[in-house]
Parts: sequence; structure tokens; C-alpha cells
Amino acid sequence: TRIFVPRDAAAVAVGANEVAAALKASGRAVEIVRTGSRGMHWLEPLVEVETAEGRIGYGPVAAADVDALLAAGMLDGADHPSRIGRPEDHPFLARQTRSTMALCGIVDPRSESDYAAHGGWRGLSAALKEDAEARVRTVTASGLRGRGGAGFPTGIKWETVRKAAAAQKYVVCNADEGDSGTFADRMTMEGDPFRLVEGMCIAGVSVGATYGYIYIRSEYPHAIEAMEHAIAGARQAGWLGASVGGSGLAFDMEVRVGAGAYVCGEETSLLNSIEGKRGIVRAKPPLPALQGLFGKPTVVNNVLSLAAVPAIFAEGPEAYERLGLGRSRGTMPIQLAGNVRYGGLVEVPFGITLGELVHEIGGGTASGRPVRAVQVGGPLGAYFPPSLFDTPFDYEAFTAKDGLIGHGGITVFDDTVDMAHMARFAMEFCAAESCGKCTPCRIGAVRGVETVDRILEKRSAGQPVAKELTLLADLCDTMKFGSLCALGGFTPYPVTSAMTHFPEDFDLDAQPLPAGLEAAE
Ligand code: NAI
Ligand code: SF4
Repeated sequence: TRIFVPRDAAAVAVGANEVAAALKASGRAVEIVRTGSRGMHWLEPLVEVETAEGRIGYGPVAAADVDALLAAGMLDGADHPSRIGRPEDHPFLARQTRSTMALCGIVDPRSESDYAAHGGWRGLSAALKEDAEARVRTVTASGLRGRGGAGFPTGIKWETVRKAAAAQKYVVCNADEGDSGTFADRMTMEGDPFRLVEGMCIAGVSVGATYGYIYIRSEYPHAIEAMEHAIAGARQAGWLGASVGGSGLAFDMEVRVGAGAYVCGEETSLLNSIEGKRGIVRAKPPLPALQGLFGKPTVVNNVLSLAAVPAIFAEGPEAYERLGLGRSRGTMPIQLAGNVRYGGLVEVPFGITLGELVHEIGGGTASGRPVRAVQVGGPLGAYFPPSLFDTPFDYEAFTAKDGLIGHGGITVFDDTVDMAHMARFAMEFCAAESCGKCTPCRIGAVRGVETVDRILEKRSAGQPVAKELTLLADLCDTMKFGSLCALGGFTPYPVTSAMTHFPEDFDLDAQPLPAGLEAAE
């Protein structure tokens, strides 16, 4: 019997390795396959057994439960309180549209042949039948936009690099996933690494780049190992090297490990870091598409952007473009984290509302208390109150409400959160992570922490804070418009959204805005 136990870091953190060891020690004739995660975090470790009905899941399973589960007939898919049935029928997965994450938790991430058996390399094979111009046209036609956060059209970026005349070009994958509450890049690399290799190959042959780097943060040891295995496996199978898939086109790649600075996720400091320099932001222009790594034209794309590409080529760009809302086409792997009952990875077409995500899919808070705020888009994203939960997940809809979807991270807070403390945290984070190149961010973040501290002191003394609030709003304005990169430029989002939507947390005399008013503003 084949039995699937995740090796994803989230599952390992809650005992998946011990479960695998207990299954091995049970003496039963089982073949244990270590997969990625399905993304249902509250069910990890989620163990799946191959039966005549398909894979049957049991979760969460502890090592100490293994003998009892085996005795109860788990290997035949028998009933048990922890049996969830076929994972794909579970309500959390059943309402998703998995494209980028389609094979996460299903394939063996160490096996190139398993990837191929599940339809891997079909996208690259299709791409190799076209010429470079047509390949870029396919990406443009899909409507894919950069999944790192900025949402820049991927096809336009690729076309800029393709048209740039240079003897050497590069593809750089940004896997420096630094946003709090995000894990989709990690899950992709750990659960379906060959897809990323395939996406990077397609990027390479589309723009005329012969070499790629995957820049992974050092906090992701499992992802680093998975990608290194996948690169070696793809090379052995002929998908990397002097003649990609027998096409005569060369493309190869390697992993580079970052040292843990948040700002190295900013594309120009990432390029500096790969070049062996200090991870400090470069002024743009020149765009990396024209003068990127070692001064050469470079595609810099997030893991999710590149991992979306194989399906676009395999299924055709129309299938991807048909999904979504407005200018946000296709699907987005959204990550539910924080104080949420059903946390995990939700891949759905753009357009789902924030409320559906938090309440219907996420099941509200884990604490059972009312949801008070959610931060969307990582530590630089705005806090949204429940009165804005009708906002559809879409780049433009969030911008219109002074927010951003960023890398798709949603962190949920209940009614015990103190939003003035969250505003302080944003400034503190920026002060710690600032690269120091520009004044509004380097000095502004420190002054921001001091100003929020004064507000907190006066608040507890029952003194007026109007002067400090004006100063803080002014400082946010300076940081937003005067900073060189998104770190300093976006730190005001959590601060001003907290001040706007939760004024009563800053000034005890302020009244909470009546429900509905914020949405109208
Ligand atoms: P940006 O708007 O400056 O650039 C977006 C991308 O488009 C860049 O790769 C840029 O080089 C490229 N580009 C712009 N104009 C172009 C043109 N004419 N031709 C070709 N390429 C062009 O945004 P930036 O500063 O790169 O990213 C900011 C975003 O990063 C924010 O929205 C934020 O949400 C996100 N972010 C993501 C994090 C994560 O962990 N994934 C962490 C922190 C921020
Ligand atoms: Fe560096 Fe901050 Fe300026 Fe960005 S905004 S360049 S992180 S100092």
C-alpha cells in the first residue's frame, strides 16, 4: 500500500517526520511517499492512503496515533474520527481552482518521473514548438501579472528582455518570500519544485536567457534542498543544459541562498546580493529588464509568477485568461494565516471577496472571538475592518480602498488586537529592515516608532494626542512619496489604515466609525 506523508516544513513542524518513522516502524508492508502539503494546515500532518476509491486522508495524525489507526484499518481507508475522505472533496479544497498549486501535496517532489507522469513538462514542450516571440505572446495573452505583489504584466516584462540586445541575459526567480503570513512560494518549492524549474526554462527560452538563479531565503532550508534536487533531476532528464528538451536551446540554473534581509526581496537589492554585494536598493531606472544582473537584461519574477507559466502553456493562455476579475486574470494562491480557524493555502480565481475568504473559507478566528481586522499583503499591507469585507480580491479593487493584495497573504486578528500597537510594529519593522539608502525610510521609521510611543504614553495618561496624530500622518505622507523602494514607501499603509479604520485605538475619545461609513469614504 502506498501511503503519503508530507515533507513540507509546516507538516514537519507538527510532527510529520515522526509519523513517517512510526509508519515505517509498524512493520506493515507500506511504501511511504513524502509529498508536499495540500495546504490545509489545521489538518497537518495529513496522511493519505492509496485505496480503490482514490487517496483517503487522515488528519491531524500524531506518531502516537499510528498503531491505532493501522489497527482500525487505515490502510483500507476505514472509517475513523480523523478520516477526512478524499482530500479533493473536502470543502476547503473543493471550492478552489488549483492551477499553480495543482500538484502540491500530490506529487513526490523528489521524483522527476512522477512530475512527468502527472503532466509535467507539457508546458515547456509546447513552448519549444513556438518561436520566442510567440512564447512571449502566449504569456501576454494569458493576462498573467507579477505575483510578487506589484502586479506588473509578465508578458510586457518578458518582451522588454526579449527585445534587449545582449550576448548574455538572465532569469532570476525571487524566492525571498519575506512577507509575514505568506508561504505559497515555500509550498511550491517544497511540494512541486519541478514546476518552478519548468517555468524558469520557459522564461529563459522565451527571452533568450541561458542562465537562471533562484534566490531563496536561508530560513527556507527545506525549499533549498528541494530545488537543488529538482535542478539536478531536471538536468539528468535533459530539461536543463546545453539543449533543453532536445531543442538546441541552452538553459541552466542554480540556487543562491540569501542571508535573511527583508529588503533583499526587493528586486534590485536581490540582484546586488547575488552579485556578492551588500543588499542595498539600486535606483530605477535602469530597469532590471534592461540592466539587471551583472548589468545584463534580466527577467526578475516571483516564484508564483514563474510557476503559473507551465499551466498557461499546457492548457493554453485562454483557459487562464478566462478566470478572474477585471484586469486581474487567472488564479491567485492566497494564504490565510494569523488568528484563523482554517488556515492554509487557497488558490482561487481573482474576484472572491475578502469576507468569503476570511469567514466562509477561513471559518473566522481560531479563538472564536469576532474578527476585528485583517492585514492583506504582508507587513506593508493595509488593515481592513469587516466593513470592507465586500472588497473583491483584485489588484485595482484593493488599490481603490487604499490597500494592496501584495503577495496574497491575509493575517487575521480578533477583537483583542490593539491597532496602535500594530501601527508601532509596522514602523519598528521598517526601522529594523531598512537598507538605509534613503532618508524618509531610514530616519522616518525611527521617528515613526517614537511618535507612536508618545501616542501610547499619552493614551494611557488620558491626554490629548491630536498633535502626534497629525505628525504621524505627515510622516507617513513623506515616507510614502519620498522613499526609494516599497519598504519605506508602503510602511505607511498599515499605519494610516489603522489610524483611519480604528481611530478609537489611538485616541480614546475618538468614536469608532459607524459601520459602512469607512466603505463609503
Ligand atoms: P514596481 O512597480 O517598481 O515593479 C514591478 C516590476 O515590474 C519590477 O520587476 C519592475 O522592474 C518591472 N517593471 C516596471 N516597469 C517596467 C517596464 N516598463 N518594463 C519592464 N519591466 C518593468 O514594484 P516593486 O518595487 O518591484 O514591488 C513592490 C511590490 O512588492 C509591492 O506591491 C509589495 O506588495 C511587494 N512585496 C512583496 C513581498 C514578498 O515577500 N513577496 C515583500 C515586500 C513587498
Ligand atoms: Fe532602503 Fe528603505 Fe529607501 Fe527602500 S525605502 S531604498 S529599504 S532606505
